[in-house]
Amino acid sequence: MTARTSDIEKAAGVLRAGGLVAFPTETVYGLGANAEDPAAVARIYQAKGRPPSHPLIVHLGGAEQLGDWVDGVPETARLLAEHFWPGPLTLVLRRGGRVSPAATGGLDTVAVRVPDHPVARALLAEFGGGVAAPSANRFGSISPTTADHVRTELGDAVDFVLDGGPCEVGVESTIVDATGDAPAVLRPGGVAREELEAVLDRPLAVHATSSVRVPGQHPSHYAPRARLVLVDPEKVVVEAELARELGHRVGVLLPPAFADTPVNAHAVVPVPDSVQSYAQGLYGYLRELDRQGCDLIIASLPDEDGLGLAIANRLGRAAGPRPA
Ligand code: TXA
Ligand code: MG
Repeated sequence: MTARTSDIEKAAGVLRAGGLVAFPTETVYGLGANAEDPAAVARIYQAKGRPPSHPLIVHLGGAEQLGDWVDGVPETARLLAEHFWPGPLTLVLRRGGRVSPAATGGLDTVAVRVPDHPVARALLAEFGGGVAAPSANRFGSISPTTADHVRTELGDAVDFVLDGGPCEVGVESTIVDATGDAPAVLRPGGVAREELEAVLDRPLAVHATSSVRVPGQHPSHYAPRARLVLVDPEKVVVEAELARELGHRVGVLLPPAFADTPVNAHAVVPVPDSVQSYAQGLYGYLRELDRQGCDLIIASLPDEDGLGLAIANRLGRAAGPRPA
């Protein structure tokens, strides 16, 4: 789905004036501001309720702009950019001159990506500069994959919402630390680890740093309101029925192998067989179970091949301990 030219021009004008624009990418919707405007970037943190220590991703219109935003492009980064941009890959590199320290949480590195969505690309081309954007949700909650999700969650905190239809990938970009000689995955996402390894011709470590406990912060993230409990696939049905007997309004993400098993629960979402479809639908399912008033969701982790790794990471974090 493409946006009208007049909407793209209006959105670029809002960015130039220091405002916030929500826009679709192939992964999830982003909440964008001019990456060179510290006051505009500060508004992102305010709208999300996000601590300033969590840095943002700078979105660019093309890899040829990279030199302005980072200090040096190691061979690994060049190779990955060439293969996967535009696309759901974020590279962490040494910070260059154009980046406002407000966007990087004071780090000496910066996360950059070139998104692959016609509306995002049109916006970045029209605006011309870098757009700092996290996912367009409140801190800790589920990333939005439709414009309606953004409007429901952020409302008036956003100056303009570009509607590009539902996001195709459905989970956030894969983040790769490409600053040193040994690239590592910091967050699994829309580009599978196997695809990265095939291009680099070497195994990649996965340091899901985001799951590291930072004092004073809670690990729960990407989380629905309902409590999420993960069990083995063959236990999903029995655990759901047990919880129902205990008085819970239970939502179920039913694994494909049990698609034909009847389940006595408040709401049941059959998980698609294809991992691409599962990733695409995941955040919508969690929002829908919240909308239906579930207080408990029972699910299991998929195999960690391909996009399964990103899905397992998000479900694992959504099931993490909540703040008291
Ligand atoms: O698909 C995506 O990546 C979406 C779309 C909108 O592009 N964006 C997104 O942004 O997921 P956000 O802010 O929700 O997640 C960005 C992640 C955070 O976990 C942050 O800690 C990490 O990127 N990050 C940003 N800069 C970093 C840096 N310099 N070093 C390590 N991690 C960084
Ligand atoms: Mg996010």
